[in-house]
Amino acid sequence: MTRPLTEQTVLVTGASSGIGRETARALARAGATVVLVSRASGPGAAVTDALRREIGNSELHFLGADLSSLAEVRRLAAAFSARFGQLDVLVNNAGALFPSRTLTADGYETTFALNHLSYFLLTQLLLGKLLQSPAARVVNVASSAEAFGRMHFDDLMLSENYGGWRAYSQSKLANVMFTYQLARFLADTPVTVNALHPGTVATGFGGGSGGPVGLVFRLARPFLKTPAQGAQTAIQLASAAAVAGISGRYFNDQKPASSSRRSHDRTAQRQLWRRSRELVGLSESEAEPLRRVVSEHERGDL
Ligand SMILES: NC(=O)c1ccc[n+]([C@@H]2O[C@H](COP(=O)([O-])OP(=O)(O)OC[C@H]3O[C@@H](n4cnc5c(N)ncnc54)[C@H](OP(=O)(O)O)[C@@H]3O)[C@@H](O)[C@H]2O)c1
Repeated sequence: MTRPLTEQTVLVTGASSGIGRETARALARAGATVVLVSRASGPGAAVTDALRREIGNSELHFLGADLSSLAEVRRLAAAFSARFGQLDVLVNNAGALFPSRTLTADGYETTFALNHLSYFLLTQLLLGKLLQSPAARVVNVASSAEAFGRMHFDDLMLSENYGGWRAYSQSKLANVMFTYQLARFLADTPVTVNALHPGTVATGFGGGSGGPVGLVFRLARPFLKTPAQGAQTAIQLASAAAVAGISGRYFNDQKPASSSRRSHDRTAQRQLWRRSRELVGLSESEAEPLRRVVSEHERGDL
């Protein structure tokens, strides 16, 4: 049985605009306690205040974190855990496309760090809390761009031959592969993990992207989904009774869909997991919640 949203706590990353904001808004309207996350320097706090006034739900909270920084992801997880007793739904959504290559505070390529490593690390840091919920959900906002992606394991940071689309599609393929691998690890638990393509949505994403992708987005804007429409699949996966218990799937337009053949490559999924674990420097204690629930025959892949 799905518990009412009034009894659930949801964390949405990238909630200051676009798909994340609409997801937060819908879940808060339905009565959930919603924690919105985006950079402290951005409009997140003001957006949270505005939503609180609009909806009249006082259980709307803002936590600022630059998720491209591993230290900030860790600080966010600690701040969340200190303030909130439970977590039922984690929506990993913060993401962007960067036309030029930049490096994060950790020295990693920003697209890979923000779009993939933050999903990977935040989920594991909050897994202990998710496992305490009678039925928790992890929702990873990916993209159909995954089908154009390749995992460049010999150069994940794309130090040679960087392209914004190349980096973005790799990171979105990583979202889907991470989803499938994590769902297998959590198969014996009440935590489900799914990925989705939101559609092509008129959000801050395209406008801020610059380069050819940004131009296409700006020209196509009148024909794109609105943010509220683009959030529907994330909202469904976060809350609908119809998908309770479904895990390890990729959704588009609120329906299960096929992701690329590459995304199903289990050898590559395992390789991505190992590399991600090394890149985020996952400690023994951070890995412990997952280690406790993984079946014997999957344990070697952790
Ligand atoms: N729009 C589309 O057509 C489309 C299509 C496929 C997939 N997607 C995916 O949908 C997700 C949401 O994108 P959107 O279209 O809603 O874009 P958006 O309107 O630009 O929203 C991006 C969100 O991410 C946050 N963010 C950006 N950098 C961050 C950082 N370093 N740390 C923390 N938060 C950060 C932004 O907040 P601040 O700037 O306030 O920090 C904002 O809330 C992304 O994962 C994207 O890949 C979008």
